[in-house]
Amino acid sequence: METKVEAPVTTIAEIGKHVGQTVTLKGWLYNLRESGKLLFPIIRDGSGFIQGVLHVKSVAPEVFATVKHLTQESAIVVRGGVRADARAKGGFELDVQDVQVISRVPEDDPYPISLKEHGVEFLMENRHLWVRTPRQVAILRIRAEIIKAARDFFDDNGFILTDPPILTPAACEGTSTLFEVDYFNEPAFLTQSGQLYIEATAMALGKVYSFGPTFRAEKSKTRRHLTEFWMVEPEVAYAELADLMKLGEDFVSFIVHRVVTKRRAELEAIERDITKLENVIAPFPRVSYDEAVKLLQEGHAKGALETKFEWGGDLGSPDETYISAQFDKPVIIHRYPAQVKAFYMEPDPERPELALCMDMLAPEGYGEIIGGSQRMGSYEKLRQRIHEHKLPEESFQWYLDLRKFGGVPHGGFGMGIERVVAWICGLEHVRETIPFARMLHKIYP
Ligand code: 4AD
Ligand code: MG
Repeated sequence: METKVEAPVTTIAEIGKHVGQTVTLKGWLYNLRESGKLLFPIIRDGSGFIQGVLHVKSVAPEVFATVKHLTQESAIVVRGGVRADARAKGGFELDVQDVQVISRVPEDDPYPISLKEHGVEFLMENRHLWVRTPRQVAILRIRAEIIKAARDFFDDNGFILTDPPILTPAACEGTSTLFEVDYFNEPAFLTQSGQLYIEATAMALGKVYSFGPTFRAEKSKTRRHLTEFWMVEPEVAYAELADLMKLGEDFVSFIVHRVVTKRRAELEAIERDITKLENVIAPFPRVSYDEAVKLLQEGHAKGALETKFEWGGDLGSPDETYISAQFDKPVIIHRYPAQVKAFYMEPDPERPELALCMDMLAPEGYGEIIGGSQRMGSYEKLRQRIHEHKLPEESFQWYLDLRKFGGVPHGGFGMGIERVVAWICGLEHVRETIPFARMLHKIYP
């Protein structure tokens, strides 16, 4: 594009390299403040935010007039001199010399998201615009860092990325949350987890992981559940439960350390208490399900929990919140009753009513971020479980084959990216952890 503005193009993130020089920024008007003969436009370009300054006498009258009448979120190309200013957010200001308007937001149909407070319903309806605001931008940067850290951890520790299918013939995590699709007149389902398929690739490659979208037709409205979310899942041949707990704590410590190191500015921008994250160093406490039941019953006796938890049930959100609040690090709960867990879990040889499984709960009341287990090794017992769970055996023949042809102890876990983003960012609700959240009755925009 031909522009009348001529000076090296840079970004706000890189502006510190240009102090004393004239540069060009390509972005949008975030906000405009006026004070006597001065204008203070705040410019954003995706990489950051910077305040510009214009004095009525320092620029051509038409430039001053253009800026004075600029509307919020109009797209602009700005030329100006870079000045270090210790008082400025980010440390720099731009002495604006010239502005070219690329597209103008109409005066009579203004940008709907002003800098004042809006209700969350309204913001979610305008999510396509809400993502531009500084807080949302910081959260999305942190999300990207978490994903990169997760990939780096596995890539650098001998795991091979293998991508499971998204369209599947059968359930993995229970039939009540399946999204059905019409697959050439045959019913098929959106995947709930890549696990069953990466069990197959783990037998080919040893240590594998998958990272992709997963789907659950969750019929309840909670602050932790999405219907479409991203899961990262490692699966390891010859791994037993103790190995999985160790892998999980090393993985989560690594991610948190990486974010605290590389995204400190964003964490500060969203006012996260970073000292709480700095505490997240392996090893994490391990609590058996039996011990967790005791904790919950004590909590009930103290009046902190409404209902008395009975052995045999699955932990609900209030239970998880209560337990995780007792620790300042993530806590691993292991060996749940098999009856509340998925069909594919290996029983504990010492107490077959328990599954060799683990859930990791994040601190500060964030609840489950990881779920995993050792996988059922016996062909016959697995077949029996498939029947008990009323799953169609013919769809699982290939999965049973893995036990027949060179079966070994193995296991893995899944970590939900959005739950981890919510915890690391200290967010109330998962809806802000993903650019476009999919929830019960929510599919627009
Ligand atoms: O505990 P889940 O259901 O475990 C599995 O899917 C296993 N097949 C994983 C494995 O062993 N490879 O889900 C794993 C994680 C949860 O701990 C949670 O972080 C996240 O996925 N998760 C959700 N996140 C957002 N919305 C939902 N509806 C979620 N359901 C699970
Ligand atoms: Mg789970």
